[in-house]
Amino acid sequence: MAKIAFITGVTGQDGSFLAEFLLEKGYEVHGMVRRSSTDFHERIAHLEDTPGFHLHYGDLSDSLSLVKIIGQIRPDEIYNLAAQSHVQISFDVPEYTADVVATGVLRVLEAVRTCGLANSCRIYQASTSELFGKVEEIPQRETTPFHPYSPYAVAKQYGFWIVKEYREAYGMFCCSGILFNHESERRGETFVTRKITLAAARISQGKQEKLVLGNLSSLRDWGYAKDYVECMWLMLQNQVPEDFVIATGQQHSVREFCQKAFRYAGIELEFAGQGLEEKGIDIKTGNVRVEVSPQFYRPTDVVNLLGDPSKAREKLGWNPQKTPFQDLVRIMMEHDIQKVKGESRPLNIRGKRTGATT
Ligand code: NAP
Ligand code: GDD
Repeated sequence: MAKIAFITGVTGQDGSFLAEFLLEKGYEVHGMVRRSSTDFHERIAHLEDTPGFHLHYGDLSDSLSLVKIIGQIRPDEIYNLAAQSHVQISFDVPEYTADVVATGVLRVLEAVRTCGLANSCRIYQASTSELFGKVEEIPQRETTPFHPYSPYAVAKQYGFWIVKEYREAYGMFCCSGILFNHESERRGETFVTRKITLAAARISQGKQEKLVLGNLSSLRDWGYAKDYVECMWLMLQNQVPEDFVIATGQQHSVREFCQKAFRYAGIELEFAGQGLEEKGIDIKTGNVRVEVSPQFYRPTDVVNLLGDPSKAREKLGWNPQKTPFQDLVRIMMEHDIQKVKGESRPLNIRGKRTGATT
């Protein structure tokens, strides 16, 4: 009998890679989608006719839909990936973020209990390095104290603790992956790496003037999303439910990501100036290609994330360096150089078609 997996957030970056991964392993995969005005799910469109792949309407803010889906499909494994996942936007919609990112986790756990699956269903919770926030230790590992530093991170902290609580109170197999930033050619376009790769591709093809960013000195431990979904699965195959830090163990700045991405597009950038006055200048032409705006600064920002993946390497046999940083930038740039070739519509100065602020 094929194992049955249920993925919330299946239309997102990680959900789409995870669905592919589990289908390849022979799972029957059920994904939850929410109703939207555009019913096209770009990241999973290629999977929609795959045998063994099924979609259900539901929402993390709606307990009844969770109970209905989980009761009907009776999954062996649940991957709770759905979230309002943008940190800056969590300052704009803090209450909604708390409802989905915090209470949503409780709803999934309770739905499993309500359906009588507490002893059989294993649950993965998408936790985050944002829990370390205003970091109290470098690098961050499973024992590092949490110091969440945004409405998103505070909500994720609730998710982390409620999973731990249900594990201890009811003996459920539920665990959290404390994942550091992971990116890909499917990353949402307002996260900083994808904003940069798309802009570098467009600028090199004369379709955008410049890229406007926030804090260029922010440091992240960036991995490749496709490698990280394997770890989610490994955590649920473990003998016991445990939480793991998942990271590469390497750190780079936003500025460095820019330089590497632009170099890939044939533009050598030199940064000059400080703070809001800092600019990224094309060495060959003297044109300013990167500027800084306070619009992309956060009320509180997490600026020094570096993970220690030793526990995952030792206990799960996971390779944190499968896709090194330069390969990640190359994969994203190769994809986006092709993607923007087809674009003709003029973009505003931020490389966006709308007036949104991220
Ligand atoms: P993402 O691309 O933003 O995808 C989020 C998914 O959640 C989408 O499928 C979205 O559906 C869905 N969703 C949002 N609100 C929902 C709701 N109320 N009910 C049901 N579904 C909802 O995020 P990701 O990068 O794949 O990340 C996956 C998870 O890992 C998230 O929980 C995120 O917080 C966490 N995480 C991500 C990273 C990272 O670096 N990527 C690191 C640590 C933790 P729509 O397509 O309809 O919007
Ligand atoms: N988005 C964005 N846009 N970030 C910028 C910009 C910009 O124009 N300029 C500088 N940054 C800085 C942010 O201030 C932050 O310090 C860093 O770049 C990374 O920002 P994001 O790419 O938006 O990601 P994040 O680290 O805030 O959150 C992502 O990773 C978390 C794991 O650490 C998301 O995927 C979260 O869902 C995830 O939990």
